Amino acid sequence: MTADFQSKDFQSKTGARVELLPLARFTTLGVGGEAEVWFVSNHEQLAEAMAQPYRILGGGSNLVIADAGVPERVIRLSGPLAERDLTPDPELSGGDGIVTGWVGGGVPLPGLVRALQKLGYSNLEGTVGIPAQVGGAVWMNAGTRYGEMFDGLHTLEIATPDGLKVVTPDDLRWGYRDSGIPRNHIVTRVRLKLQRTAPEDVLARMTLADTARKGQPKMKTPGCAFKNPGGVGAGRLIDEAGLKGTRVGNALIAPEHANFIVNLGGATAADVHALLDLIRERVGVPLELEYELWPGEADRSATPVAASQWAAEPE
Ligand code: FAD
Ligand code: EPU
Repeated sequence: MTADFQSKDFQSKTGARVELLPLARFTTLGVGGEAEVWFVSNHEQLAEAMAQPYRILGGGSNLVIADAGVPERVIRLSGPLAERDLTPDPELSGGDGIVTGWVGGGVPLPGLVRALQKLGYSNLEGTVGIPAQVGGAVWMNAGTRYGEMFDGLHTLEIATPDGLKVVTPDDLRWGYRDSGIPRNHIVTRVRLKLQRTAPEDVLARMTLADTARKGQPKMKTPGCAFKNPGGVGAGRLIDEAGLKGTRVGNALIAPEHANFIVNLGGATAADVHALLDLIRERVGVPLELEYELWPGEADRSATPVAASQWAAEPE
């Protein structure tokens, strides 16, 4: 793979900071080679960054990035696009129902969930423990059996190759680990739809959701490798195939939970790919990957999707 990088860090025409950086440092797996990272803090900078092939990087908690990196620009939301305004909007809020100001796609989800609990606002507590950014969590509709991102969304602002769109969840065909938002579209900001609840009740529900992940490994990992097929969990299927503890290079199928691949230190993307292939070969039923492989079957620099794909476009 070749990349046409500028020789050193620079500021783009609109003022975005651009740096050639190893992507491993942005991922929870700790794997991934270099790319040109664009730190964009406003819509103008975003539009400039999106003018060439790009990918959008959130918390890096669902990514397996090639050791050679990626040739496209990697966009990271920063500044105001990583800030949150949790003040209830007086026009949209009423009774116990609250609609917040804008929350940037680059906001870390764990801190947001903690802040909502302290304020006594519920609806997103089921996502506790997910080390994502808001934009990435929305794009995946990340969640647990105690709740998911779409439980708490009022409005989404999305940058598309055809410009900025504002949509509501009803405009999207969302479901389990799927927002229905096309690839190549960037969740820039959202408004949250929340419910006033006693902080201790929100905390109790967070504790319940947190307890469900006690058996998950604590090492570097991008979370669950495969989505759960209907009925039985992917972890159980991989476990029953006798694959727990299988190691390739420095990547390991976690002994604690078979749907997690962990980095023992110095793992490569190739090690992880080999384990994914082995799992698919040995488990009797087709499994859908939850990880994003960069570059790979989930290449986000694919042909932009036309705005007409949207189910509806509210004003
Ligand atoms: P990234 O990993 O950076 O990117 C993932 C995908 O989202 C990429 O395609 C990327 O391009 C896209 N993306 C990122 N930001 C944006 C944006 N602003 N707009 C549009 N697209 C964007 N997931 C669960 O659902 N439930 C869990 O309980 C859970 N537990 C986890 C536990 C651990 C320890 C770890 C490491 C992961 C876990 N995950 C879980 C997986 C992961 O946190 C989710 O998939 C999450 O949604 C990824 O978000 P991210 O911001 O890290 O995205
Ligand atoms: N199981 C096994 N062996 C294993 C792992 C699990 O037999 O190695 C069994 C468990 O004993 C249990 C069942 O499988 O009976 C389900 O396991 P668990 O409770 O751990 O939940 P999961 O379905 O494996 C899901 C999400 C997690 C989320 C947890 C907690 C998916 C793919 N996984 O795991 O999400 O944190 O529930 O709510 O939906 C992620 O998506 O990255 C993720 C970590």
